[in-house]
Order: sequence, then structure tokens, then C-alpha cells
Amino acid sequence: MRKAFPVEDLARDDRFVRVPLIERINDPRNAVAAAQGSSGRRGAGRLTPDRPDAPDAARALMHGIFVGEIQALEGAGRTCWDFEVGSGNGEGIAEVPFELKLDMARQCWDEARHCEISIKLSGHMGTELGEFSENTFLYEAACNPDPVLRLTGVNRALEGLAIDVFNTMREFGEIAGDPVLEFCEDWMLADEVTHVKMGSDWLRKLTANDKPRQERALEFQRVVDKLFSLGGFRGEEEDSPVRLARRFRELAGFKEDEMDTLAQIAKEAREEMEAIAEANRAAVAS
Ligand SMILES: [Fe+2]
Ligand SMILES: [Fe+2]
Repeated sequence: MRKAFPVEDLARDDRFVRVPLIERINDPRNAVAAAQGSSGRRGAGRLTPDRPDAPDAARALMHGIFVGEIQALEGAGRTCWDFEVGSGNGEGIAEVPFELKLDMARQCWDEARHCEISIKLSGHMGTELGEFSENTFLYEAACNPDPVLRLTGVNRALEGLAIDVFNTMREFGEIAGDPVLEFCEDWMLADEVTHVKMGSDWLRKLTANDKPRQERALEFQRVVDKLFSLGGFRGEEEDSPVRLARRFRELAGFKEDEMDTLAQIAKEAREEMEAIAEANRAAVAS
């Protein structure tokens, strides 16, 4: 079986429609929305049931979670297979300790369960698979040739985002009076805290004596975090659609200053998007 499986060859049937992340960010309809008066940020404030677009926003977010779960399963499965067993902190980086593979195998089991939960939950919310598009960024981050960067980009950045999203959806289910949604999100949230902690623990363990590698991994994490702060999608402001879940991140091995940095990254991403929206408004108005 070949190592390093390319994203183009992932098994998908014709229900799945791929839209690259960059196309979504550059979607010209964003400019129209901005011209119509919205801030240009994704969504219209905090995700609460009284938002007029709440049902569709929640369904879209849930579908995004579902495709993320498939890719998390595929990524963790690849990490079990792509590397030789070794100390993982020597000169050759294409090796990992056997215990890291055991963690990834456990993660596969969790993600497979999350796929099933997400499919049933999407059905419960009235969504058909493929109704929303799939971007494959998570799997692409899971193709990094350095296993430490893989775990930092996927387990810390993207599954860290999953913590924020699941916590938001759990609160949404609670406010909406939907115990099915609330408890499903709560169970998945508990698993994601474990996955993020795996990323935090392995990052520290494998780079304890290799600061340049640790810095490369953290830089990769910052790039991914910025991309997924998507112009204010995730942040600490009252009207951020997805809030930073500090308590759960703390349980997953995030230090206070790391969360402050993340909040700052989210703030910058929001300000950049607002500046673009303002420029779009001015261009359409003139
Ligand atoms: Fe998951
Ligand atoms: Fe996960």
C-alpha cells in the first residue's frame, strides 16, 4: 500500500462537491453581501436560534463538521501507516514512536463514530449529504511530510477549531431545546479534547530537544489558525459566530498565552476582512 496518499484520490462518490477554501474566500458574492450592508464577515453574528438564518447556518456548519470527520479519519489512518516506527525525534523525521500510532488508531475509531453521528445528526436537521460543499483542507494539512507538523496542524489547529465549533453547536442545541443536537455535540466535544491533547503532548515530546522543528510546527499551526479564523468566523467578540472555547482548550493542553495568541490571530483576521468589505462597499457604491 502506498505511502502519502494524494488528496485527489480520496474515495468520494458523486454526492460530494469539492470547493477549494480559497475559492470560498474569494467568492464574488461576498462583495455583494458586503455592498448590501452586511459586515462582510461570514455569518451574521453569534449563532443563536433567533437568527433568521439560524436553521441553514446550523445545517451548513454541521455538514462542514461531517466532511471534517471523514478527513480526520482519513488523516489519522494515514499517519498510522505513512511513517516507520522509531524514536521520532532523531535526524530522520519520517518516523514516529509506536505509541503515537496507537493514539492515531484510537483517533480513527473516534472519528469513524463521529462520521456516523454526523450523518445521523445531519439527517435529524434535515440535510442531505452533499447538500453543502466539501473543502479538503484538513486532509491536505494531514499530508505534511513531517509527522510533528501533521499533528500540530491537524490535531492542535483544526481539531482545536472543532472544540470551538462543537462547543458553539452544543450551546445552540441547548438554547434551541434540542437535546439530540446538544448531547451529540457534547460527546464529540469530549473526544476532540482528547485528540487535541494528543497533538499538544506529541508536539512537546518530539520537539523537546529540537526547538527549530518546534517553531516550524507552531508556525504551521498559526498559518492554519489564521486561515480558519476566516475573517471573524471564530473569535472572542460577543458576535463571533464561533467562540473560542478557552476552558476546553485548557483541558486539551493549550497554555494561556497560546490562547491569547489565537485570539489575536482571530482579531487580525476579522479586521482584515472588515477592511476588504469596506473597500468592496466603496467600490460598489462608486
Ligand atoms: Fe471528530
Ligand atoms: Fe478529532
